Amino acid sequence: VITGDLQRLVETKGLFYPPDPVSSDQCTLGGNIAENAGGPKAIKYGVTGQYVMGLKGYFSDGSPFSFGGKLYKNVAGYDVMRLLVGSEGTLAVITEITLKLLRKPRYTLDVLASFREAQDAFNIIKHAHAMTLTPSMCEFMDSFCLRAVQKYMNISQKENDLFYILFQLDGDHDEALNGEFKALSKVCERVGGYVTRRDDACQGDQRLWELRNHASEALKALCPQKVSYDVVVPPAMIGELMEDLKKIGDKYGVNVVGYGHLGDGNVHVIVLCRTTEGWDSLKEEVADQVMQKVVDYGGSITGEHGVRLTKRKYLPLMFSEKELSVFGAIKEALDPHHLLNPGKAI
Ligand code: LAC
Ligand code: ZN
Repeated sequence: VITGDLQRLVETKGLFYPPDPVSSDQCTLGGNIAENAGGPKAIKYGVTGQYVMGLKGYFSDGSPFSFGGKLYKNVAGYDVMRLLVGSEGTLAVITEITLKLLRKPRYTLDVLASFREAQDAFNIIKHAHAMTLTPSMCEFMDSFCLRAVQKYMNISQKENDLFYILFQLDGDHDEALNGEFKALSKVCERVGGYVTRRDDACQGDQRLWELRNHASEALKALCPQKVSYDVVVPPAMIGELMEDLKKIGDKYGVNVVGYGHLGDGNVHVIVLCRTTEGWDSLKEEVADQVMQKVVDYGGSITGEHGVRLTKRKYLPLMFSEKELSVFGAIKEALDPHHLLNPGKAI
């Protein structure tokens, strides 16, 4: 089932399935569950796993399983259902999913905040958290990404060198939403941001989100030597992390740019190299340093895209030998012949 199809279907019934991995017209619910996909709404609504109530499927020896169901509480046995969520297809085959749905908020309001200084923009997150504002989305794009995507989408560039944060507020009460908008504007303006409100008949401003949603392909079109990460640090540390990563980029003569989920600390760090010469080894060296820096900040090497093959070598930065052996023991118990996605994720 394509995630966007489910989202549109439940919305016709006044319901809401929040997880949206920014590829909802291509990605599938099965894939989302295998990766425990995140996306922009995680800041308020959490990630895919928080909506999974039950899973049915088959173990690698062909025997069926059923964990969870339409139950809000259930502590019988180990929580194998949660273990399967995010297991990257390495532990079992999932064939049936029971999802939790919410009631769709009546109003959404998009807010664009632009900043001249990246660090001012990053600081916003400290204030927004302090004021207990919880936007449903809080996405950033640095000026490089913004220019790339404007060029890609043939949108005229009024001003250069701006740093964007796109917020979405949602709720059932128009007045409360206006109050939140005012509070958010104040916070943005206090750190030097310029705020505009974009509510197209309370439906939000789709064009703004299209800019954000095309960031990845716009950067690829601009520079084929591109590698991207989806690292996570505590949200208040993103500004410092990005400065450090840019220094790593300078050392290697590559561009380090970023966009992504500012609100929950999950940054898409993109490394771009102008030449093909030496790119394969260069990208490995830069990646090694990026991952080490992220872990030094108490972060994670992946927030939503998974470990897959490419990030396996970085797991020891985050886990002790004993911890890694627990992953191995679980794999042996559930898939002793390594039939399911062998060699991946752990
Ligand atoms: C995004 C995907 C790449 O946030 O995770 O755009
Ligand atoms: Zn993302």
